[in-house]
Amino acid sequence: MDTSIWFEVKNLHVSVAGKPILKGLNLSMNAGEVHAIMGPNGSGKSTLAYSIMGHPNYTVTQGDIVFEGKNVLAMKPDERSRLGLFLAFQYPVAIPGVTVANFLRTAVNARIKATAAAQHDGVLPADVKSISIPEFRKQLRDAMRILKVDDSFASRYLNDGFSGGEKKRAEILQMALLKPQLAVLDETDSGLDIDALRIVSEGVNILHERDPQMGILVITHYQRLLNYIRPQFVHVLINGQVAESGGPDLALQLEERGYDWLREPEPEVK
Ligand SMILES: Nc1ncnc2c1ncn2[C@@H]1O[C@H](COP(=O)(O)OP(=O)(O)O)[C@@H](O)[C@H]1O
Ligand SMILES: [Mg+2]
Repeated sequence: MDTSIWFEVKNLHVSVAGKPILKGLNLSMNAGEVHAIMGPNGSGKSTLAYSIMGHPNYTVTQGDIVFEGKNVLAMKPDERSRLGLFLAFQYPVAIPGVTVANFLRTAVNARIKATAAAQHDGVLPADVKSISIPEFRKQLRDAMRILKVDDSFASRYLNDGFSGGEKKRAEILQMALLKPQLAVLDETDSGLDIDALRIVSEGVNILHERDPQMGILVITHYQRLLNYIRPQFVHVLINGQVAESGGPDLALQLEERGYDWLREPEPEVK
């Protein structure tokens, strides 16, 4: 195993409900880099995101995912989260009855406890403290200011009746508080108007400035988002494989030419 690569997806094959979706996907990233995955609908972008986090419906049939030398595929989703992997969902689910603030505080405390336990052979030391309420409020207020949401946001039920823009802000609030090492953002631009897009992107950029070692994998259908969150590398996913990789100019080319020029020709039917 080559441990010098920070994050690597190797020859990944993934099936959903018995149907092969990813068919030998390769991707590697160094710490601090911003990569974009673009591709038409149904090409497997969300499948890649879910496979990185360990969604149980996505079956890896072949290949590896390695992060900082560790075999990610052997870990449960919560272990992956503790390792520093994070996914902002394309379609966040509502949790009526659980407020944004309670959800975030529970997540932060779960992270603190799990990290402490992992450092002590799986046994939670008795002296591990939850985050103090004032400290949590401070961090939450700071994140809410960055994402330009007002105070009432924290006391609403998570994603319950949220607009598209509010749901995406709630995802990035989680990112702000959990401070991942590798953030996967699945179509964070979908459902956002131009103002919301700018605010959410700026939020991501501020978090990246604060932690320049954080890697970001931006999944998007449209070039537009990449005007705000600027990737160094762009990969095009077609039919479960990376069909093309390049620099930021590749995204502009896709904007102009669409995806068809990268598709395999259909087999001739005689
Ligand atoms: N739960 C599921 N059951 C069956 N097929 C699925 C499921 N989820 C995704 N797929 C199929 O997998 C393919 C890739 O989906 P997805 O990864 O969501 O693509 P993208 O995010 O690029 O639009 C699509 O053909 C989709 O219909
Ligand atoms: Mg998707």
